[in-house]
Amino acid sequence: MKKGILKLAALSVAAVLSVGLMAGCGEGSDDKLVMGTNAAFEPFEFTTTEGLVGEFDGIDVAIALELAKSMDKELVIEDMEFDGLLASVQTGKIDMAVAGMTIKEERLKSVDFSIPYYTATQVMVVAADNTDIAKAEDLKNGKKVGVVLGYTGDSIVTDDLAIAEENITRANRGVDVVQDVKNGKLDAVVIDSYTGKALAEKNGLKVIEDAEAFEAEEYAIAVAKGNTELLDAINTKLEEMLTSGKIEEIAQQYN
Ligand code: ARG
Repeated sequence: MKKGILKLAALSVAAVLSVGLMAGCGEGSDDKLVMGTNAAFEPFEFTTTEGLVGEFDGIDVAIALELAKSMDKELVIEDMEFDGLLASVQTGKIDMAVAGMTIKEERLKSVDFSIPYYTATQVMVVAADNTDIAKAEDLKNGKKVGVVLGYTGDSIVTDDLAIAEENITRANRGVDVVQDVKNGKLDAVVIDSYTGKALAEKNGLKVIEDAEAFEAEEYAIAVAKGNTELLDAINTKLEEMLTSGKIEEIAQQYN
């Protein structure tokens, strides 16, 4: 009986230890930098036949490659739902989330953010011949609005504009709701500016801006709270790339 308990105790110590180790190092070992993203966010991250890293390509992938290089690590990419990124950073499943992620008060409760590396805003993607949506306020007139679950656009439409729940459609990817604008099921999609422009162009739709309603948003990289070693390394390299114009150069390649 006593032996049994001891054995159990030893087992649980081992279990705690290995969980602790895993949480500390991310999924990869020390020579890997694991980036989590949601690769349905052109031009920041998307999949293609021959990407920069396997099938993955985009501004964030190019930036993360530079970060990994500066740390002498191999970049590994984990693609997942945008909604799951913060939890994956917290549990150590990934080392960092690089996903065109906007710094938000609420997100700062669960992760730490790097310095901002890009500025964007929200836009409305509407039909090319649309004439009755000129401002964000116009969406309140019973318009059917699409957003992506958990994106900034979701909270703006839901909380700030307070659009009636029955008029909001939430999808997992921007393309899905934009498709609904194309086929007339939705009047508008509220989404990040660069992605909105890319999607509008591809689908013969147009983009409406409203600088008064939609504030500037800063994209940054999320790491686990207190992981100052990684955060410092990221910030140093980002700072250097912002100053040298490298980030702008990368962005140009994808716009
Ligand atoms: N900037 C927006 C946000 O932080 C959308 C980001 C979506 N990114 C992605 N990789 N799917 O909520």
